[in-house]
Amino acid sequence: NDDRVARISSAIRVIQDFPKPVIMFQDITTLLLDPKAFKDTIELFVERYKDRDINVVAGIEARGFIFGPPIALAIGAKFVPMRKPKKLPGKVITQEYSLEYGTDKMEMHVGAVQEGERALVVDDLIATGGTLCAAIRLLERVGVHVVECACVIELPELKGRDQLGDKPFFVLVSCWLGLVD
Ligand code: PRP
Ligand code: MG
Repeated sequence: NDDRVARISSAIRVIQDFPKPVIMFQDITTLLLDPKAFKDTIELFVERYKDRDINVVAGIEARGFIFGPPIALAIGAKFVPMRKPKKLPGKVITQEYSLEYGTDKMEMHVGAVQEGERALVVDDLIATGGTLCAAIRLLERVGVHVVECACVIELPELKGRDQLGDKPFFVLVSCWLGLVD
């Protein structure tokens, strides 16, 4: 597993000062260019979740749409997109959440999930944790049990996992930025 994680970690490109100064952007497009590393990424999640009775994989737009569907197919779960506002054509349920500056919204189709179903939430990266919290809230509001949240990358200095409370969280790569207070 360590070999696989090391390969995944080195396939992620870090781009400094994107999208603005000081930000060290974690670019997963280079991971997608390495078929072995991309396959290992999906397989590590599938090995963890295949026997957990998960029937919903909820992927967060945009990059959760890359990692979520192959996991869903492999574990025999449905895939549910958690989208940016005003993108879904049907009746939606909306969750507002706060960003560093201002607020954003996440939406899910009504009827995509049923009360009592068991979900895995997937995204590429956790920073402050606000995005994953919104996804958890949205699913729990309609009676879905969120079994765990899974990301490829964590920025531990931002303490995003603390925002999730006691909700189980799993990550493949922890990327320390060397931030100082
Ligand atoms: C990034 C990342 C996560 C979110 C994490 O998405 O892909 O979804 O930020 O941030 P948080 O933990 O502080 O909430 P972004 O908003 O850049 O949008 P994108 O995935 O659509 O590019
Ligand atoms: Mg995102």
